[in-house]
Amino acid sequence: MPNVRSTYTDSVNFFGGENPLELATRFGTPLYVYNERILRQSCRELVSLSTHPGFFVNYSAKANTNPALLSIIREEGCVVDAMSPGEIYLNLRAGFTPDKILYVCNNVDAAELKNAVDNRLLVSVDSLSQLELYGRVNPGGKVMIRFNPGIGVGHSAKVVTGGKDTKFGVDPGLLDDALAIAARHNLRLIGLNQHIGSLFMEGASYVAAMDVLLGLAARLMEKGVTPELIDFGGGFGIPYHKYEGEKRLALAEFGTLLHRRISEWSAKFRYKGRFYIEPGRYIVAECGLVLGRVNAVKNNGNAVYAGTDIGFNVLARPMLYNAFHDVEVYREGGEPDENVVEQTVVGNICESGDILAPKRLLPRLREGDVLAMLDAGAYGYVMASTYNSRLRPAELLIGEDGAARLIRRRETLDDLASTLCALN
Ligand code: LLP
Repeated sequence: MPNVRSTYTDSVNFFGGENPLELATRFGTPLYVYNERILRQSCRELVSLSTHPGFFVNYSAKANTNPALLSIIREEGCVVDAMSPGEIYLNLRAGFTPDKILYVCNNVDAAELKNAVDNRLLVSVDSLSQLELYGRVNPGGKVMIRFNPGIGVGHSAKVVTGGKDTKFGVDPGLLDDALAIAARHNLRLIGLNQHIGSLFMEGASYVAAMDVLLGLAARLMEKGVTPELIDFGGGFGIPYHKYEGEKRLALAEFGTLLHRRISEWSAKFRYKGRFYIEPGRYIVAECGLVLGRVNAVKNNGNAVYAGTDIGFNVLARPMLYNAFHDVEVYREGGEPDENVVEQTVVGNICESGDILAPKRLLPRLREGDVLAMLDAGAYGYVMASTYNSRLRPAELLIGEDGAARLIRRRETLDDLASTLCALN
């Protein structure tokens, strides 16, 4: 069903048997919409990167924790990470068993480590200080250490997590100190992990960092410590500039490299353990979008503004990282419109930084139009807030039968008040 600007969602039949205008009317806006078929497809692309028997895709749940999506990801054969007690809870709720959940935490207290241990999860710590704490909480237990391979990537400095300017990971030069702490608490160091940052479109840095981690694992083996799990981290990018024909990450090429690396390394060191990759964005970004409505249009100063109900409380990425999301436009009786004009799409929050799409060439927007911000499945809903005391949106899943079902209701005013205490 072509509309004012819908080439992309039409090409992948995103809405199945549904229609975005009807969904917006029936469920209200803003509204997150996910497509199950596309989600399964992304999982399958990654799961099939290597046929090595120890290769697993460890979905990084921080990108989207709706249990309906987590269950699908689990069905597709992925394991999962968690970063907080909330993510542990939601992963368990989605049916992941404790052996399938890796706790990759950062700067947590003893109670949080104990919660992970009580839930029978393997924990990765990311400083010697946290290793020491973990040793006190779970003496004699198993542990992993997150190293910083000295290489970083990312779409914004805010999401680069390897290299010199990051709080993450342990310097590989501290390996012996780590082993000494582990020995003092009878901990068994059984794994290494890393994550160099979020969003690369070329695999070279990732592969270079894999080599650093494999080198470190080899050093460990020389010291008589045999790792059981080596986790290379996530960061796999998706093309956000769909309407400009941005190229996809060359996954097949990457898969060949990855498969060769892990197979040769396992053969050389007689390694029988597991290898993880830990993608979040790649799995869920493209299966999701957020629908909103244009409530106002105006000329103001230097720009033409289209004012929508998608504030940065609903989709924070543009405001936080200047992130780009393509915009689609649907209208009752709408026809494809090639006459584009420069417009700035904004939200309804009382800050001038509340900009979804600055100076974008789009068909002239009208009041009542329904918009989609594409590729919002990752770091979309999970980063939504109630700023300005707005209610977080609902989430819908379009199943493989093409029909939509609600997987999270919209918040209510009562939800806003649900944590308040009476003042008497
Ligand atoms: N593993 C660890 C330890 C991580 O910290 C992350 C992401 C991932 C895996 C997954 O990375 P991915 O494959 O999704 O790139 N809110 C930002 C992204 C923050 C990523 C944080 N860590 C955004 O909206 O772009």
